[in-house]
Amino acid sequence: MTDQNGTIESHPLTGDDDGATYAPSAEFRAQANVNDPSVYWRAAEDPEAYWADQASKLKWTKPFTEVLDWTNPPFAKWFQDGELNVAANCLDRHVAAGIGDRVAIHFEGEPGDTRTLTYAELTHEVKRAANMLTSLGVSAGDRVAIYMPMIPETIIAMLAVARLGAAHSVVFGGFSAESLRARIDDAAAELVITADGGYRKGRVSALKPTVDDALALNGGEGSVQKVLVVQRCENDVEMQEGRDLWWHEEITAYDGEHTAQGFPAENPLFILYTSGTTGKPKGILHTSGGYLTQVSTTHRDVFDLKPETDVYWCTADIGWVTGHSYVVYGPLANGATQVVYEGTPETPDWGRWWSIIQKYGVTIFYTAPTAIRACMKIGRQVPEQYDLSSIRVLGSVGEPINPEAWRWYREVVGAGTAPIVDTWWQTETGAIMISPLPGLTALKPGSAQVPQPGIAATVVSESGEPVPNGQGGLLVVQRPWPSMVRTIWGDDQRFIDTYWSKFGDVYFAGDGARLDEDGDVWLLGRVDDVMNVSGHRLSTAEIESALVEHTSVAEAAVVGADDATTGQAVVAFVILKSQQTQLTADDAEPALKKHVAAQIGAIARPRQVFVVTELPKTRSGKIMRRLLKDAAEGKEIGDTTTLADTAVMQTISARMREELGNK
Ligand code: WTA
Repeated sequence: MTDQNGTIESHPLTGDDDGATYAPSAEFRAQANVNDPSVYWRAAEDPEAYWADQASKLKWTKPFTEVLDWTNPPFAKWFQDGELNVAANCLDRHVAAGIGDRVAIHFEGEPGDTRTLTYAELTHEVKRAANMLTSLGVSAGDRVAIYMPMIPETIIAMLAVARLGAAHSVVFGGFSAESLRARIDDAAAELVITADGGYRKGRVSALKPTVDDALALNGGEGSVQKVLVVQRCENDVEMQEGRDLWWHEEITAYDGEHTAQGFPAENPLFILYTSGTTGKPKGILHTSGGYLTQVSTTHRDVFDLKPETDVYWCTADIGWVTGHSYVVYGPLANGATQVVYEGTPETPDWGRWWSIIQKYGVTIFYTAPTAIRACMKIGRQVPEQYDLSSIRVLGSVGEPINPEAWRWYREVVGAGTAPIVDTWWQTETGAIMISPLPGLTALKPGSAQVPQPGIAATVVSESGEPVPNGQGGLLVVQRPWPSMVRTIWGDDQRFIDTYWSKFGDVYFAGDGARLDEDGDVWLLGRVDDVMNVSGHRLSTAEIESALVEHTSVAEAAVVGADDATTGQAVVAFVILKSQQTQLTADDAEPALKKHVAAQIGAIARPRQVFVVTELPKTRSGKIMRRLLKDAAEGKEIGDTTTLADTAVMQTISARMREELGNK
C-alpha cells in the first residue's frame, strides 16, 4: 500500500512472518513435473521458444509459425497465424487419445445430489449444447451472457459457446439486476443462459427473476433476444413467451454429432468484468491460443498435476477468473479429474469441504485465504475429524495469505507436509504469474515468491526504476505473456490508460510489492482504489456512486478497512441530504447497506455505514480516503495538516474508536 507520500509499508497481515522456509522433500521433488531449476533461465533466455514449446502441447488445426507480434504495443498477438478450437482441446482431444472414460467432473450439489461426467460424456453434452446454440443463432464473433450457479451446465454452456467461436461473458450469480444489465449491454449479448436457481446455504437462490428484472430495465429495450433456462431447483419461474426457453426441453432435439472448427488464436474467448478505479466495470477480453497455453501450462506445473491419478478441486466460483482458468480451461485442457461443488463451505456444517475431500480423495486443493481464515476461526477440531491424507498440494489465491493462516493450512489440511503454492495473478493476467513451483521452491509463508518460467515480473519505484532486493515499490510485468488481457472490451484507450501509461510499454498491475533479500516477491495489496474483500475485487468508486444514487445521500466516501477474516471490509462514510425526510441517521445504516447490495450485489454490502456531517478533504476538494481508512481501522490519525478543516477527522476518529471499542 502506498501512503500519501507514495512510500510503501508492509502488509498488516504479513506481520507474523517468522522467517522459516519450507523446502520440498526429496521425495516430492523427485516426482515433480518441474524439478530442474534451469527451467527459469532457459525460459528467460528465450521466452518465445519456451511459450512456443508449451503451445505445441495443444492441438492446433492449423499450426502457428509466428509466436508473438508485439509491433503495436500494448496490443499483443500470440500465435496469431495458428488456428485451434479451445473446446475441442478440452474435450474431443482427450476422447481421441483414449481417455474418454476418465472422470472429468465429480459434481457435488449443495443438497447432496451428485453427478459424474466422464470426458466422453462431457464432450457429448457440449456437442449437443453447441448444436442447440447454433439453432438459437449463436455463431463465431457473438457474445453470450451466462448467469448461473456452480453446476455442470455452466461449464457445458461455456464450452459450447467457445466451441462455436463465440465469446462468453459469465456474470457472477451474486450480482444484482443492474450489474447484470450493465454487463449485458456493454457486450451487446443476444442470448442469456441462466438457471431457475442454485442452492446456497441450504436455500434456493433464484437467478431467473434477476435476469427478468435486468431485461426489464431501460423499458425492456436491449440486445437480448433469447433466454435459455437450466432447471436446477424446480422453483417457480415465469417464462416469457417467445423469449424464454427451457434448456432441458430444447436440448432433446439435438444429438451429439458436432465437428469443431478451428478459429484463429486471437479469436475472443471471453469477456469477464472486473472492478477498476472508476465506477464502470472493465470488460477484460481474453482470446484463445495464448490463454489456453498459459492456463494449461501453469495448471500442470504449479499444481504438479498428474492427470492419471490426481483429483483436483478449486473452490472458486466460475463467475470469477479463478473459476474460468482453474475450474474450466486449465484442468479440462489437461485432462484432469476434478470436483465441482455447488454450495458454501458451511452447509450443512463446517465439515462440508473436508467431507468432500475425504469422499473423493482430493489430492490438490486450491482456495482463498479468506476461506482458510474462516475455517481457522471455527477451529481445527472440525477438519481433524476427516481423513485428509490424500492431499499432496495446496494452493492459495486472491489476496496475500498471512503466515499464520499459511501454517494452519499446511498443518491442518496438508498434514504438515503438503507444499502450498501462493499464486499471484489477476483477471487481467488470465493465468498464474508469480508462484512457487512445488518441486523447486523453498516456500516462504506469505510470499508468492517467483515469477513463473517465461514471465518477466519485477518491482519498480514510482519512477519506474527496478528496486534492489530488500525494497518495496510497484509490481510490473516487463514482457508480454500469452494469457494477457488483450484490451478492455470496446475501450482500447482505457486499456492503454489503465495499465500501460504509467511506465510505457510495461504492464502496471496496480499492486504494491516488495523484493526480499533473496529477490522473492511479497505482495502488499492494491495501490489504487480497488478493495479486496474475501478475495473479490470491488471498486470504491463503484460503491460510492451506488450510495449517491440513493435519494437521501449527498456525498459518500468508501474505504477498504483491514479485516481479520475477509482481508478487507467495505466501510462507507456518508453525508445525508439536509432537506430529505426519507432517512434519519439511525435508519441510514441498514437502509444503505441494503441499497448497495441491491445496486451491485451482496458482495459489495458495506460492513459499516457511518453518517457524518463532513468528509475530510484537501483544500483542492479531494477526499482523503487514507485518513478515513485509518479511522475505520481504529488507528491513530496521521498528518491532517493538508485538510481544509482539521476538526472533521477528530470527530470521525473519536466516533470510530467508540464504535470499535463497543464491538
Ligand atoms: C490480489 C484473482 C496477493 C492482487 C486471481 C491482485 C493477490 C488482485 C494474490 C486480482 C496473491 C491475487 N497474493 N495478492 N496470491 N492473488 N491477489 O482480478 O491485489 O479477482 O491485483 O484475480 O487480487 O484479483 P482478481
